Amino acid sequence: MRIDVVSLFPDFIAQCAAFGVVGRAGERGLLSLHGWNPRDHAEGNYRRVDDRPFGGGPGMVMLIDPLRACLRAVREADPAPARVVYMSPQGRPLDQAKVRELAACERLVLLCGRYEGVDERLLQAEVDEELSIGDYVLSGGELAAAVVVDAVARLQDGALNDAESAVQDSFEDGLLDCPHYTRPVDHELGPVPEVLMSGNHARIARWRRMQSLGRTWLRRPDLIDEATLPAADRALLEEWKASPEGVQALPDGRAGEPPEQAG
Ligand code: ADE
Repeated sequence: MRIDVVSLFPDFIAQCAAFGVVGRAGERGLLSLHGWNPRDHAEGNYRRVDDRPFGGGPGMVMLIDPLRACLRAVREADPAPARVVYMSPQGRPLDQAKVRELAACERLVLLCGRYEGVDERLLQAEVDEELSIGDYVLSGGELAAAVVVDAVARLQDGALNDAESAVQDSFEDGLLDCPHYTRPVDHELGPVPEVLMSGNHARIARWRRMQSLGRTWLRRPDLIDEATLPAADRALLEEWKASPEGVQALPDGRAGEPPEQAG
Protein backbone atom coordinates (compact mmCIF):
# COMPACT_ATOMS: atom_id res chain seq x y z
CA MET A 1 0.00 0.00 0.00
CA ARG A 2 1.11 3.54 -0.74
CA ILE A 3 0.13 6.53 1.44
CA ASP A 4 0.89 10.11 0.42
CA VAL A 5 0.50 12.78 3.07
CA VAL A 6 0.06 16.39 1.99
CA SER A 7 1.05 18.65 4.86
CA LEU A 8 2.97 21.80 5.70
CA PHE A 9 4.94 19.55 8.09
CA PRO A 10 5.66 16.40 6.08
CA ASP A 11 8.61 15.50 8.32
CA PHE A 12 6.26 15.15 11.27
CA ILE A 13 4.46 12.23 9.63
CA ALA A 14 7.74 10.65 8.53
CA GLN A 15 8.89 10.73 12.17
CA CYS A 16 5.66 9.21 13.44
CA ALA A 17 5.93 6.43 10.89
CA ALA A 18 9.52 5.51 11.70
CA PHE A 19 8.74 3.45 14.81
CA GLY A 20 7.06 0.25 15.89
CA VAL A 21 4.56 -1.55 13.72
CA VAL A 22 4.38 1.23 11.12
CA GLY A 23 8.16 1.39 10.82
CA ARG A 24 8.31 -2.37 10.44
CA ALA A 25 5.54 -2.35 7.81
CA GLY A 26 7.72 0.10 5.87
CA GLU A 27 10.84 -2.05 6.28
CA ARG A 28 8.92 -5.12 5.12
CA GLY A 29 7.78 -3.29 1.99
CA LEU A 30 4.10 -3.49 3.01
CA LEU A 31 3.65 0.26 3.17
CA SER A 32 5.36 3.14 1.44
CA LEU A 33 4.80 6.56 2.91
CA HIS A 34 5.51 9.81 1.07
CA GLY A 35 5.32 13.35 2.41
CA TRP A 36 4.46 16.33 0.23
CA ASN A 37 4.63 20.00 1.15
CA PRO A 38 2.18 22.34 -0.63
CA ARG A 39 4.66 25.15 0.03
CA ASP A 40 6.94 23.55 -2.57
CA HIS A 41 4.15 24.20 -5.08
CA ALA A 42 3.42 27.80 -4.06
CA GLU A 43 4.31 30.78 -6.24
CA GLY A 44 6.26 33.91 -5.45
CA ASN A 45 9.11 34.85 -3.15
CA TYR A 46 7.06 34.20 -0.05
CA ARG A 47 5.64 30.87 -1.25
CA ARG A 48 2.36 31.79 0.28
CA VAL A 49 0.00 28.93 1.16
CA ASP A 50 -2.78 30.80 2.99
CA ASP A 51 -4.81 34.00 3.02
CA ARG A 52 -7.47 35.76 5.08
CA PRO A 53 -11.01 34.38 4.96
CA PHE A 54 -13.64 36.19 2.90
CA GLY A 55 -16.38 37.42 5.16
CA GLY A 56 -13.91 38.21 7.92
CA GLY A 57 -13.16 36.29 11.06
CA PRO A 58 -10.02 34.97 12.69
CA GLY A 59 -7.35 32.72 11.23
CA MET A 60 -6.20 31.98 7.74
CA VAL A 61 -7.52 29.68 5.01
CA MET A 62 -5.29 27.49 2.88
CA LEU A 63 -5.17 28.59 -0.77
CA ILE A 64 -6.50 26.46 -3.60
CA ASP A 65 -3.59 26.65 -6.02
CA PRO A 66 -0.62 25.37 -3.96
CA LEU A 67 -2.74 22.45 -2.75
CA ARG A 68 -4.03 21.71 -6.23
CA ALA A 69 -0.55 21.76 -7.75
CA CYS A 70 0.70 19.58 -4.91
CA LEU A 71 -2.09 17.04 -5.41
CA ARG A 72 -1.39 17.01 -9.14
CA ALA A 73 2.26 16.17 -8.41
CA VAL A 74 1.12 13.44 -5.99
CA ARG A 75 -1.07 11.90 -8.71
CA GLU A 76 1.69 12.11 -11.30
CA ALA A 77 4.13 10.32 -8.99
CA ASP A 78 2.15 7.09 -9.31
CA PRO A 79 -0.57 6.12 -11.78
CA ALA A 80 -2.52 3.96 -9.30
CA PRO A 81 -5.90 5.57 -8.54
CA ALA A 82 -5.84 7.24 -5.14
CA ARG A 83 -8.53 7.79 -2.52
CA VAL A 84 -8.15 11.38 -1.28
CA VAL A 85 -9.11 11.92 2.36
CA TYR A 86 -9.17 15.31 4.09
CA MET A 87 -8.57 15.15 7.85
CA SER A 88 -10.92 17.57 9.60
CA PRO A 89 -13.20 17.81 12.65
CA GLN A 90 -16.10 18.26 10.20
CA GLY A 91 -15.49 14.78 8.82
CA ARG A 92 -17.23 11.50 9.46
CA PRO A 93 -15.88 9.92 12.66
CA LEU A 94 -13.18 7.32 12.02
CA ASP A 95 -13.95 3.84 13.30
CA GLN A 96 -12.45 0.39 12.82
CA ALA A 97 -14.80 -0.43 9.94
CA LYS A 98 -13.56 2.66 8.08
CA VAL A 99 -9.95 1.75 8.94
CA ARG A 100 -10.50 -1.70 7.40
CA GLU A 101 -11.97 -0.09 4.28
CA LEU A 102 -9.01 2.30 3.93
CA ALA A 103 -6.51 -0.48 4.62
CA ALA A 104 -7.82 -2.31 1.57
CA CYS A 105 -7.09 0.65 -0.74
CA GLU A 106 -4.06 0.37 -2.98
CA ARG A 107 -3.33 4.05 -2.55
CA LEU A 108 -4.41 6.70 -0.07
CA VAL A 109 -3.76 10.44 -0.05
CA LEU A 110 -4.21 12.18 3.31
CA LEU A 111 -4.66 15.92 3.12
CA CYS A 112 -3.85 17.85 6.30
CA GLY A 113 -5.19 21.33 6.85
CA ARG A 114 -3.73 24.01 9.12
CA TYR A 115 -5.10 27.36 10.20
CA GLU A 116 -8.89 27.69 9.92
CA GLY A 117 -9.13 25.15 7.13
CA VAL A 118 -8.92 24.78 3.39
CA ASP A 119 -10.78 26.71 0.69
CA GLU A 120 -14.03 24.77 0.27
CA ARG A 121 -13.73 24.76 -3.54
CA LEU A 122 -10.53 22.70 -3.34
CA LEU A 123 -12.26 20.19 -1.06
CA GLN A 124 -15.26 19.93 -3.39
CA ALA A 125 -13.07 19.36 -6.43
CA GLU A 126 -10.33 17.11 -5.09
CA VAL A 127 -11.42 15.27 -1.96
CA ASP A 128 -13.33 11.97 -1.85
CA GLU A 129 -14.14 12.08 1.84
CA GLU A 130 -13.56 13.99 5.05
CA LEU A 131 -12.63 12.11 8.22
CA SER A 132 -12.45 13.17 11.86
CA ILE A 133 -10.63 11.32 14.63
CA GLY A 134 -12.90 12.71 17.33
CA ASP A 135 -15.03 15.56 18.58
CA TYR A 136 -12.21 17.89 19.52
CA VAL A 137 -10.13 20.35 17.52
CA LEU A 138 -6.46 19.81 16.80
CA SER A 139 -4.31 22.60 15.43
CA GLY A 140 -3.82 20.67 12.21
CA GLY A 141 -4.61 17.41 10.49
CA GLU A 142 -1.12 15.90 10.97
CA LEU A 143 -1.83 14.02 14.19
CA ALA A 144 -5.09 12.76 12.70
CA ALA A 145 -3.25 11.59 9.57
CA ALA A 146 -0.68 9.82 11.77
CA VAL A 147 -3.56 8.01 13.49
CA VAL A 148 -4.89 6.82 10.12
CA VAL A 149 -1.41 5.73 8.96
CA ASP A 150 -0.89 3.70 12.15
CA ALA A 151 -4.32 2.07 12.17
CA VAL A 152 -4.11 1.18 8.48
CA ALA A 153 -0.48 0.00 8.57
CA ARG A 154 -1.10 -2.58 11.28
CA LEU A 155 -3.84 -4.19 9.18
CA GLN A 156 -1.53 -4.83 6.22
CA ASP A 157 -0.92 -8.55 5.83
CA GLY A 158 2.37 -9.40 7.55
CA ALA A 159 2.68 -6.16 9.52
CA LEU A 160 1.98 -7.79 12.88
CA ASN A 161 4.15 -10.59 14.12
CA ASP A 162 1.31 -12.55 15.64
CA ALA A 163 -1.30 -12.84 12.90
CA GLU A 164 -3.93 -13.38 15.56
CA SER A 165 -3.53 -10.09 17.32
CA ALA A 166 -5.38 -7.89 14.81
CA VAL A 167 -8.30 -10.30 14.85
CA GLN A 168 -8.52 -10.12 18.63
CA ASP A 169 -8.25 -6.32 18.80
CA SER A 170 -10.91 -4.15 20.34
CA PHE A 171 -13.62 -3.26 17.79
CA GLU A 172 -12.69 -5.99 15.31
CA ASP A 173 -15.89 -7.75 16.33
CA GLY A 174 -17.63 -4.60 17.55
CA LEU A 175 -16.72 -5.16 21.22
CA LEU A 176 -14.02 -3.83 23.50
CA ASP A 177 -11.06 -6.08 24.20
CA CYS A 178 -10.89 -8.27 27.31
CA PRO A 179 -8.31 -7.57 30.07
CA HIS A 180 -4.81 -9.03 29.75
CA TYR A 181 -2.37 -10.30 32.40
CA THR A 182 1.22 -11.45 32.49
CA ARG A 183 3.76 -12.55 35.12
CA PRO A 184 4.02 -12.56 38.06
CA VAL A 185 0.96 -14.61 39.00
CA ASP A 186 0.93 -13.22 42.54
CA HIS A 187 1.56 -9.56 43.06
CA GLU A 188 0.69 -7.08 45.78
CA LEU A 189 -1.72 -5.52 43.28
CA GLY A 190 -3.65 -8.78 43.11
CA PRO A 191 -3.64 -12.24 41.53
CA VAL A 192 -4.15 -13.24 37.92
CA PRO A 193 -7.66 -14.68 37.32
CA GLU A 194 -7.37 -18.40 37.92
CA VAL A 195 -9.14 -19.36 34.68
CA LEU A 196 -6.26 -17.93 32.60
CA MET A 197 -3.90 -20.47 34.11
CA SER A 198 -6.25 -23.42 33.77
CA GLY A 199 -4.89 -24.43 30.36
CA ASN A 200 -8.50 -25.05 29.36
CA HIS A 201 -8.80 -23.14 26.07
CA ALA A 202 -12.58 -23.35 25.86
CA ARG A 203 -12.97 -21.96 29.39
CA ILE A 204 -10.46 -19.20 28.66
CA ALA A 205 -12.21 -18.22 25.42
CA ARG A 206 -15.56 -18.16 27.22
CA TRP A 207 -14.16 -16.00 30.05
CA ARG A 208 -12.59 -13.57 27.58
CA ARG A 209 -15.82 -13.25 25.63
CA MET A 210 -17.74 -12.60 28.85
CA GLN A 211 -15.23 -9.92 29.87
CA SER A 212 -15.48 -8.25 26.46
CA LEU A 213 -19.26 -8.22 26.66
CA GLY A 214 -19.28 -6.92 30.25
CA ARG A 215 -16.77 -4.17 29.58
CA THR A 216 -18.52 -3.03 26.44
CA TRP A 217 -21.90 -2.98 28.20
CA LEU A 218 -20.43 -1.00 31.09
CA ARG A 219 -18.09 1.40 29.32
CA ARG A 220 -19.52 1.77 25.83
CA PRO A 221 -23.23 0.91 25.95
CA ASP A 222 -23.54 2.71 22.59
CA LEU A 223 -21.63 -0.18 20.99
CA ILE A 224 -23.86 -2.94 22.24
CA ASP A 225 -27.45 -3.69 21.35
CA GLU A 226 -28.43 -6.48 23.68
CA ALA A 227 -31.48 -7.32 21.63
CA THR A 228 -29.40 -8.27 18.60
CA LEU A 229 -26.71 -10.20 20.48
CA PRO A 230 -26.69 -13.93 19.78
CA ALA A 231 -28.40 -15.86 22.61
CA ALA A 232 -25.06 -17.27 23.80
CA ASP A 233 -23.63 -13.75 24.17
CA ARG A 234 -26.77 -12.53 25.96
CA ALA A 235 -26.42 -15.37 28.43
CA LEU A 236 -22.73 -14.59 28.97
CA LEU A 237 -23.50 -10.92 29.55
CA GLU A 238 -26.18 -11.81 32.12
CA GLU A 239 -23.66 -14.09 33.82
CA TRP A 240 -21.13 -11.23 33.92
CA LYS A 241 -23.72 -8.79 35.36
CA ALA A 242 -24.53 -11.25 38.12
CA SER A 243 -20.86 -12.01 38.87
CA PRO A 244 -19.13 -10.21 41.77
CA GLU A 245 -17.31 -8.12 39.18
CA GLY A 246 -20.49 -7.10 37.40
CA VAL A 247 -22.34 -6.33 40.62
CA GLN A 248 -19.41 -4.32 41.96
CA ALA A 249 -19.04 -2.39 38.72
CA LEU A 250 -22.42 -0.75 39.26
CA PRO A 251 -22.40 1.76 42.12
CA ASP A 252 -25.58 0.51 43.82
CA GLY A 253 -24.96 -3.13 43.06
CA ARG A 254 -27.89 -3.05 40.64
CA ALA A 255 -27.42 -5.33 37.67
CA GLY A 256 -29.58 -4.17 34.83
CA GLU A 257 -29.32 -0.84 33.06
CA PRO A 258 -25.84 0.41 32.19
CA PRO A 259 -24.85 3.57 34.08
CA GLU A 260 -25.33 7.00 32.46
CA GLN A 261 -22.55 7.83 30.01
CA ALA A 262 -20.44 10.76 31.10
CA GLY A 263 -20.56 13.72 28.67
N1 ADE B 1 -7.92 18.44 12.27
C1 ADE B 1 -8.19 19.20 13.36
N2 ADE B 1 -8.93 18.54 14.23
C2 ADE B 1 -9.17 17.30 13.70
C3 ADE B 1 -9.89 16.17 14.13
N3 ADE B 1 -10.54 16.14 15.29
N4 ADE B 1 -9.92 15.10 13.32
C4 ADE B 1 -9.29 15.13 12.14
N5 ADE B 1 -8.60 16.17 11.68
C5 ADE B 1 -8.53 17.26 12.44
